[in-house]
Amino acid sequence: MKKDSIIILDFGSQYSQMIVRRIREIGVYAILCPYDISIHNILSKKPKGILLSGSPFSVYDQDSPLISKEIFQLNIPILGICYGMQLISFLFGGKIEKSKSKEYGKSYFIIDSFLKKKNLFFGIPKKSIVWMSHFDEIKNLPKEFKKIGHTSSCSIAAIIHKTKNIYAVQFHPEVDNTEFGISILKNFILHICKCDQNWELNQFVQNTIKKIKKRVADKKVILGFSGGVDSFVSASIIHNAIGNALNCIFVDTGFLLRKEKEKIFSFCKRMNFPIKIIDAKKRFLSILTGIVDPEKKRKIIGNEFASIFQKESEKIDNVEFLAQGTIYSDVIESSISSKLRKNFFIKSHHNVGGLPQLKKLKLIEPLRKLFKDEVRKIGIELGIPREILHSHPFPGPGLSIRILGKINKKKISILKKSENILSQELTNSNLYDFVSQAFIILLPVKSVGVKGDKRTYEYTAVLRVIKTEDFMTATFSRLPYDFLEKISNRIINEVDGINRLVYDITSKPPATIEWE
Ligand code: XMP
Repeated sequence: MKKDSIIILDFGSQYSQMIVRRIREIGVYAILCPYDISIHNILSKKPKGILLSGSPFSVYDQDSPLISKEIFQLNIPILGICYGMQLISFLFGGKIEKSKSKEYGKSYFIIDSFLKKKNLFFGIPKKSIVWMSHFDEIKNLPKEFKKIGHTSSCSIAAIIHKTKNIYAVQFHPEVDNTEFGISILKNFILHICKCDQNWELNQFVQNTIKKIKKRVADKKVILGFSGGVDSFVSASIIHNAIGNALNCIFVDTGFLLRKEKEKIFSFCKRMNFPIKIIDAKKRFLSILTGIVDPEKKRKIIGNEFASIFQKESEKIDNVEFLAQGTIYSDVIESSISSKLRKNFFIKSHHNVGGLPQLKKLKLIEPLRKLFKDEVRKIGIELGIPREILHSHPFPGPGLSIRILGKINKKKISILKKSENILSQELTNSNLYDFVSQAFIILLPVKSVGVKGDKRTYEYTAVLRVIKTEDFMTATFSRLPYDFLEKISNRIINEVDGINRLVYDITSKPPATIEWE
């Protein structure tokens, strides 16, 4: 069955991915595309609706992301959100200005006009809570549009084109805090775009297995296996398709958590995945010796992974494919338009995909259309142990990016011991599932302390524990003081080399989750 789809044009908002997820939760397939995708490409995807996302830009900025007015002639329903609404007005000749008062957070939205039945605000009360995040607003509405809602500080908060299927709202229907956000999106997707709810994960898995089987035929596949949720689920799908023609390669960089390798090995055995472990500890330590710059560390590690996979693929007959657990957020990250990327580059996540050294191998990425929560749902169906599906993410470069500055054996050992204590205490206090990620960072900073009446001059470590839904934004976890005290006491007393532990109370943004 052909599935209906919706396109979201991404103007760089932190909530763009959230829109896609919400629409998929409604049961309709949605994809995020860079705002500068051509009209031809939009049409080739046959969308039944188009959403225009928010953006950190103003429409009147010199280098603001704009689109061609041609999009309004396609006869496809359009919904603009925040910047998307300002952009629609701007392109139709309206006037946008800085708001007198910036509006961030909760507001009360009042519907001015209820429109005809089964439309954008169908079933929504006249007054409801919405989530605002804007510094510009519409001053003069283009003559083709009518205002249909306002808030106390934004006189034009929702608009509709008088004759075409074009709508826009200043608030964010995709965030939880907007009381009737999902209903508004549902009204747009189901009533205005007339989509059927036919996006189903189970069907997706069966189709993917069939496609991989056909594509690989009698060839072999190697898979860069990290032991995380994404690579486990990818391995399972591919294993279902081609059995032991799959070869999982796990690289021990020496920057893993304690007993991680053994744990992964035993889970692979349980799932019957053929796995080979490459001991590259010495090699990784030697190529990173003396490196301080975080970006250099990441690049060196990425290249080394690629070269290992290349060599391993040459050792096995008939290998034609490299598989990896790339998920949709990684794809979006790397397909973001160059203008937005230049403005918002943060760090290069280690990812083997597309590295030039692996040109000879064709890529298989069964999860490249799925979000993390969708991957977890599939994982349950495929019988992957809960312990794997709900494990905290662990970055490819491992502990190397948690030792700030130069890396050596002693620092690795200090960090491993501290991480081990943290992991025990999270489990003992039943906090593991309550937080999204928890780890220790070792700083290249020493300070004076006193242990057993003796002066110490040792390293400072940082405890980072965060709560997040999608790892794009995060807040630090409000952990009980007793827990913090216990961790601090145990690490300082049991780990030689650390005499001070501090707790990172920064959110993302402005910080990132990892420190490098
Ligand atoms: P940041 O530090 O960018 O991290 O806020 C977001 C999430 O991604 C993880 N992370 C990585 N994962 N390779 C990975 O596979 C990497 O190079 C990498 N860097 C960060 C990080 O642990 C967090 O969950």
